[in-house]
Amino acid sequence: MKISVVTERRAHEKRVAASPDTVKRLAGQGHEVLVEAGAGAGSAYTDAAYQSAGGKIVDRAAAYGGADILLKVQRPLGNGEGGGLDEMALLRRGSVLVGLLSPLQQKDQVAAYAKAGVTAFAMELVPRITRAQTMDVLSSQANLAGYKAVLEAAAAFGRAFPMMMTAAGTIAPARALVMGAGVAGLQAIATARRLGAIVSATDVRLAAKEQVESLGATFLVVDLEAMKQMETASGYAKEASEDFQRRQREHVAEALKKTDIVITTALIPGRKAPVLITQDMVANMRPGSVIVDLAVEQGGNVEGAEYGKTVATANGVTILGPANLPSDIAVDASQLYARNVLAFLALIVDKEKNLHIDTNDEIVKATLLTRDGAVVHPQLAGA
Ligand code: NAI
Repeated sequence: MKISVVTERRAHEKRVAASPDTVKRLAGQGHEVLVEAGAGAGSAYTDAAYQSAGGKIVDRAAAYGGADILLKVQRPLGNGEGGGLDEMALLRRGSVLVGLLSPLQQKDQVAAYAKAGVTAFAMELVPRITRAQTMDVLSSQANLAGYKAVLEAAAAFGRAFPMMMTAAGTIAPARALVMGAGVAGLQAIATARRLGAIVSATDVRLAAKEQVESLGATFLVVDLEAMKQMETASGYAKEASEDFQRRQREHVAEALKKTDIVITTALIPGRKAPVLITQDMVANMRPGSVIVDLAVEQGGNVEGAEYGKTVATANGVTILGPANLPSDIAVDASQLYARNVLAFLALIVDKEKNLHIDTNDEIVKATLLTRDGAVVHPQLAGA
């Protein structure tokens, strides 16, 4: 099959959907891999590296036009979306598209894939089951985002993280609070600890308590009894009640007065991110404190955070709203994303190198959006 990899043209996106390593594996399986010239530039993968891995460097028209399967990170740009290109118009009828397609937020675009005769798979819908762990893009990217968030906070912080005893005096360690202890939050805790901060964390899921404590951080308990009910069967958080949220804010407001660094990562699938830190709470923080809101793309956990911007508050707090943290660590993010995609391809391409879409497979069923000109995903069909 012809498998194509193209340059990502959305703002804030440096990643690429295949690495020289995955191109080598695909070529080794007998596929023809077409790589758009310069596609790996943002991730320090040169055309020469792809070429020596067995890829064929082609121009944009050949990459889109020749694809049986098109590998992307971000969903294709539509007409007038910027980026200087209408990628939707370039999709080849009959081809397969694999990427982070935000289908639940982009229903019109899903309908457009069907209309264009494209079979689309959304990588973010891969279920969190053991068999799909190698394809879990949410985890591979959130893990790196959690790490990078702490480095961004450290860079914006006018003080050191670790305690330092010097001849000129002692520097106190920084105090960090991580809100939301899922994949990103747990890596943020581990990273902040490695840098020497004293770390505490909070979540609504009881399971997070033990994980936080096993990383050497303190868990900020709001209500242990209520937390027992706040995890769904698939391990995600439910929306907290008004009462829980009020009490969580009271707890956190107190903790924030003694906190230097805050990393927020709290998300509820399919909903706007919960507001965990209000403007009043920020106003009571110490000057020089730094907040990184990882949920800013989903509406934000912190009042006053702005997507893609650094906000300086009147009382000297810096609020970072990073647009795309995995892209800021593009080499590793691309490498892991590419491996996730490679594992996924093994599911839809059989040993004879033919497309084989088994809609009885749980992972296929969860990720397949469109087929034969129709929207087929259960959450979207007929919507
Ligand atoms: P996420 O990105 O959806 O949310 C991040 C965190 O925010 C979660 O821990 C969530 O409980 C927390 N949160 C939500 N509302 C909150 C609030 N009001 N206050 C504080 N925290 C709040 O979660 P992520 O990182 O995708 O992980 C979700 C779950 O999936 C976890 O239980 C994780 O262990 C599980 N998981 C399972 C995998 C598997 O292969 N079986 C792989 C990856 C994650």
